[in-house]
Amino acid sequence: MASENTPTRKTPEQLRSWRWYGRDELRSFGHRSRAKQAGWGSEDIVGKPVIGILNTWSDLNSCHMHLRLTADAVKRGVLQAGGHPMEIPIMSAGEMLTKPTAMFHRNFLAMETEEMLRANPIDGAVLLGGCDKSTPGLLMGAFSMDIPVIYMPCGPMIKGNWRGDTLGSGSDVWKYWDEKRAGNLSWEQWCEIEDGIARSPGHCMTMGTASTLTALAETLGLCIPGASSIPAVDSAHTRIAAAAGRQIVENVWLDRKPSGIVSERSFENAIAVDMALGGSTNAIVHLVAMAGRLGIKLPLEKFDEISRKIPLLANMRPAGKYLMEEFFLAGGLRALLNGMRELLHTDVPTITGKTLGEDIEDAIIHNEDVIRTPANALQPDGGTAILRGNLCPDGAVIKHAAATKELCTHTGPALVYDSYAEMKKHIDDMDLDVTKDTVLILRNAGPVGAPGMPEWGQLPIPKKLIMQGIRDMVRLSDCRMSGTSYGACVLHIAPESAVGGPLALVKTGDLIELDVPNRKLHLHVSDEELEKRRADWKPAPVRYHRGYAKLYVEHVTQADQGADFDFLQHGPAVPEPDIF
Ligand code: FES
Ligand code: MG
Repeated sequence: MASENTPTRKTPEQLRSWRWYGRDELRSFGHRSRAKQAGWGSEDIVGKPVIGILNTWSDLNSCHMHLRLTADAVKRGVLQAGGHPMEIPIMSAGEMLTKPTAMFHRNFLAMETEEMLRANPIDGAVLLGGCDKSTPGLLMGAFSMDIPVIYMPCGPMIKGNWRGDTLGSGSDVWKYWDEKRAGNLSWEQWCEIEDGIARSPGHCMTMGTASTLTALAETLGLCIPGASSIPAVDSAHTRIAAAAGRQIVENVWLDRKPSGIVSERSFENAIAVDMALGGSTNAIVHLVAMAGRLGIKLPLEKFDEISRKIPLLANMRPAGKYLMEEFFLAGGLRALLNGMRELLHTDVPTITGKTLGEDIEDAIIHNEDVIRTPANALQPDGGTAILRGNLCPDGAVIKHAAATKELCTHTGPALVYDSYAEMKKHIDDMDLDVTKDTVLILRNAGPVGAPGMPEWGQLPIPKKLIMQGIRDMVRLSDCRMSGTSYGACVLHIAPESAVGGPLALVKTGDLIELDVPNRKLHLHVSDEELEKRRADWKPAPVRYHRGYAKLYVEHVTQADQGADFDFLQHGPAVPEPDIF
């Protein structure tokens, strides 16, 4: 009999796939005969864990160019362990090309993941992703389905290079674009940067959304330890992919599901690590959405509370100096976690069957400038603050670690734009009525307004100010910004303007006060005046009368709720499909 410490192993008849392949029924005949059509005999599929390899490879997503090779390595591991691999193409939600934003498709990917797993004879899955939204999208779907899964990150690309200088994804694009606008960079130089900034497959190699989210997936206990830090082209990536294949087969037999691994305490770890990494602000929206799939509530204040206690330890761009290749060589995420282990719940379980503490036990920091310990921290507290005030009753976010310090306490007059197009039209006007003290505002850019809450939040500095040498100013919006962005940008203002949040009521010239130390964002307009403006406010006419966009704007929740669809959040279990 199994003791408390010896988990029960499934019998072949208890496998989910047995219902398709194992029975003496008309339908099972059909399933087996079609497996044979694919060249698989009964000995391949009957009574064996069938492992779905959900592959977000796509020619539309250069970050994932290598994932067909990664899938081959996973298959090798699955076969070694006695399982049957099935590679399943799934939408990629690539960050670079998808309009209006890959975030618009995150929930779509989550639905596809959940439904593909539910509808098919799959006992467990290895999820291949990495480019920003693919990590939360795949995991949200997998959490809702709740069968054993392992997340296999695609890994970061190697460092960019321009004339011997290191280039970092995103961050250096914004930096050099401003120099080009200021007339400091020729077209030829700009093209050389274009040649050298993305030199290999893999996700962005700054501590942007991709590096943050894959690290957090590992922290949640969902990856083979170490997987998230390995560059895409390092051979260790392939070896760990095979290990994921072997492990998932074991996890199917032991029924190690996300609900048995990921708890509120795992999410507290993830938030702590997000802060220690100086991670992307996008992680907040995604963690809230992911936790929501498991019925775990993460109020924004939890992020602030943890942020105040957790030092910044990763010296990574955009908040610091280095890139993922250097982070990996310095020991990677395991070393960072081990260095901060007193700040973590180390007793939480992981997909390895051990605890997080055991998974990171022997990890060593090889370069203490890249990966700091709390004794040698870059900053005593985390990089992100949650703001409240009459302009954001449901919260707003600022990554103050990547903002100019003086701007974190600032009062200035608003300059309001109602759309990105309008802002773009005027921002380079040399007669624009703007100074370095102006607070730039973009609204109608939230989950409903844009739709999809694009990464527009690092609003461009007006050309007039660029020419004066200004490179940062206070900027406010209800959208997100790229994890590779920086500056005094207040983001995720909730409720958003498109649904009538107070941001909709601001007028150009109103005074706005940002006070990060006191976590405050205040519009200096009286309540009476705001009520008057509210009475005059009208929502924009409905733009989408059909299709995914209609579904999206009708069901997306606000940023503080994770911008998931209301009908996808945690609820009673969806019944398994009948097999007939
Ligand atoms: Fe894919 Fe940045 S574009 S991770
Ligand atoms: Mg990004």
